[in-house]
Amino acid sequence: MCGIIGYTGKKEAEEIMLDALEVLEYRGYDSAGIAVCGSDGGVQIRKCAGRVKDLRSLCERVKVSGACGIGHTRWATHGGVSDENAHPHMFGNVTVIHNGIIENYKRLIGKYDLQEKLQSQTDSEVVAAVLEHFYNGDPYAAIRKTVLKLKGTFALGIMFGDIPDTVFAVRNVSPIVIARAEEGSMMASDVTVLGQYSKEYFVLPEFHVAVLKKEGIELYDMSGEAVEPQWLTVSWDVNRSSKGGYPFYMEKEIMEQPEVIWETIEPRIKNGLPDLESDGIPDSLLKECSHICVVACGTAMHAGLVGKALMQSLVKMHMDVELASEFMYTDSLVDEKTLVIAISQSGETIDTLEALKYAKKNGAKTLAIVNVKGASIARESEHVIYTNAGPEIAVASTKAYTTQLAVLYLLTGRMAYVRGIFDEAKTKEFTAELMRVPAVMQEVLDRREEIHYIARSILNAKDVFMIGRGLDYSILLEGSLKLKEISYIHSEAYASGELKHGTIALITEDTPVVAVITQDKVQSKEFSNIKEVQSRGAEVILFMKESYRLDQDAAWDSVFKLPEMRDEFMVMPVSAALQLLAYYVSLDKGLDVDKPRNLAKVVTVE
Ligand code: G6P
Repeated sequence: MCGIIGYTGKKEAEEIMLDALEVLEYRGYDSAGIAVCGSDGGVQIRKCAGRVKDLRSLCERVKVSGACGIGHTRWATHGGVSDENAHPHMFGNVTVIHNGIIENYKRLIGKYDLQEKLQSQTDSEVVAAVLEHFYNGDPYAAIRKTVLKLKGTFALGIMFGDIPDTVFAVRNVSPIVIARAEEGSMMASDVTVLGQYSKEYFVLPEFHVAVLKKEGIELYDMSGEAVEPQWLTVSWDVNRSSKGGYPFYMEKEIMEQPEVIWETIEPRIKNGLPDLESDGIPDSLLKECSHICVVACGTAMHAGLVGKALMQSLVKMHMDVELASEFMYTDSLVDEKTLVIAISQSGETIDTLEALKYAKKNGAKTLAIVNVKGASIARESEHVIYTNAGPEIAVASTKAYTTQLAVLYLLTGRMAYVRGIFDEAKTKEFTAELMRVPAVMQEVLDRREEIHYIARSILNAKDVFMIGRGLDYSILLEGSLKLKEISYIHSEAYASGELKHGTIALITEDTPVVAVITQDKVQSKEFSNIKEVQSRGAEVILFMKESYRLDQDAAWDSVFKLPEMRDEFMVMPVSAALQLLAYYVSLDKGLDVDKPRNLAKVVTVE
């Protein structure tokens, strides 16, 4: 959470940082600030509660000039949303921006006698104060000593008032990437910001100090030894970080899905078979495990649920899906025969990262499905498969989810093949169906105005229920999350058969029900469950395979007929339809679709 940026070079730092903070705003958006080191050496801060646009107008009113600076966009943890709690924090000669949580900040306040000296209620200002305490002209020594005192997670950008035009960076867990920018050097929380300035970047190793100067970047380990950075290439198309003419990133990202799913699957299909060799995934990993366990949070966890249904029905493989935040605290049973799959768009979600570490400690084999190249979870895992979704900026995840599903299909197909459950012909049929996904999703996207029309029927609802069975239920859990996070309508997904065990008491004529029917084997039961809610007055919005017949006796309010695939692939067109449903409800309610209240895209606090 929180986005950080640092720049030193020949250009005005303010302009570069405000632009970068706008891109980083998806990480947190309750307050923002910058500190600029002027040509006279003095550091000036502009910060305020509110969005980056509010900071921009503040900077227009009260100008600040200089070619070196640090900036921050905040998602509050310690200390409420206020001007003084916004970053940067200056303490004496030291100015700091921070992403993460300093767990022992209260002890540090006592130890260094800071009670009366702090301006804010944040843990981050304490870091500035401890740095100031240790600073005697040697920045490395001050950073080393301070870092050893900190417990928790941190990505820090630091400026010392008497060391002009230089930004220092150090981190533990929370991410920092660094690049040579045009006429200078830059650091940021993620590579989406750096892409427009440079194709080369490196991930700052944990507990290393980077020194950014106009002329270049130096990297040192904690003993002060110089270290050579491991340069990576930005593989993302920079245009994918812009809205591309759409009013919101979410719409653009929904529309990109056919293309990015293709980019995720196509390089991994050889001779009509799923092939993960180029990702360095040995067949033995898929052959020798006796049990799979997915650890993930939010939308990524929902992708795991679809994976579980596929693995169990097609590969006959036992698979658990665990909420990463619960995994360590429920004495989860994993051993050397377990393949633990960590799924994460950002690759930085702290709970998923910790769950992965726990699994490794217990001897499990590990595989990560991650979108952001070089992210912590990718580096921590023995094996990694990258989804090629490109930057996902909208807080509500869409294309990251469906590319995670695409990877899970590839894994299912490969696993069934190497374990001898599918022969070559059957594997090829499965792969061929996977390759149809982009075109079928495109059909749904092309008919988005139909879904826009349907969305109007839940615009004023306070509560919505979503019902389905089997894979339809798994996908509705995600559809329901999408709706609640961006439209603020209370929505619950229910396994249709379970509804009558209590929840049906809440169904009235004011409670729209979204139903999905795409699985042949439960089709008739599903239609009966729909009748149960219709009899209680509920308006039903139905998404179903186009070949299914509607009961002419029932009054159908809104029906969207889905293009057909084999049942196990129907989650793909359904995902697109439910994403659009949530999107249009939020849009028509006039909400900030990309930045829903209280949320952040990257969750680096436990
Ligand atoms: C946050 C985001 C969700 C996301 C979850 C897991 O809550 O708002 O959209 O699903 O984190 O994130 P990850 O980056 O691990 O997939």
